[in-house]
Amino acid sequence: MTTRALGAAALLTLLAGCPGGETPTEPTTRIEDILALTGDTTAGGNVYSTNCATCHGADGTGGSGFPNLTVEVPEHTEEQVLTIVIDGEGTMPAFGTLSDQNLADLMAYMNAEWP
Ligand code: HEC
Repeated sequence: MTTRALGAAALLTLLAGCPGGETPTEPTTRIEDILALTGDTTAGGNVYSTNCATCHGADGTGGSGFPNLTVEVPEHTEEQVLTIVIDGEGTMPAFGTLSDQNLADLMAYMNAEWP
């Protein structure tokens, strides 16, 4: 066998060990995980009144420097809203300690209230 043939054989072995057609499992982001859950609007209403209403108002209209969520939520994608809620923004605190299910419920509530 020539060196070149050996190289070709090694390459074939490598390719054979790496089967095509198999979809590798892509790691998902936390936001993708949350959006894959089914949210409960009633539970989400409780998450909202406990964590958000003090600043954004029970009805979401905000005021006194707090954004009006009835306008802002429909203008943002779910990904954007979740990023703000999880990481915080400016003087808004982060709510990343809420569970994925709590956040899915919260999104379901806000989408239902402010479509
Ligand atoms: C301590 C007061 C406070 C609490 C509690 C709070 N927020 Fe906020 N939120 C703010 C402020 C202030 C801003 C504006 C931040 C900025 O743009 O600098 C904001 C911005 C936002 C925005 C972006 C609006 C825009 O104009 O871009 C969303 C969406 C939002 N809040 C949702 C929520 C949700 C949902 C909760 C409950 C989980 C929550 N907030 C709790 C104060 C608060």
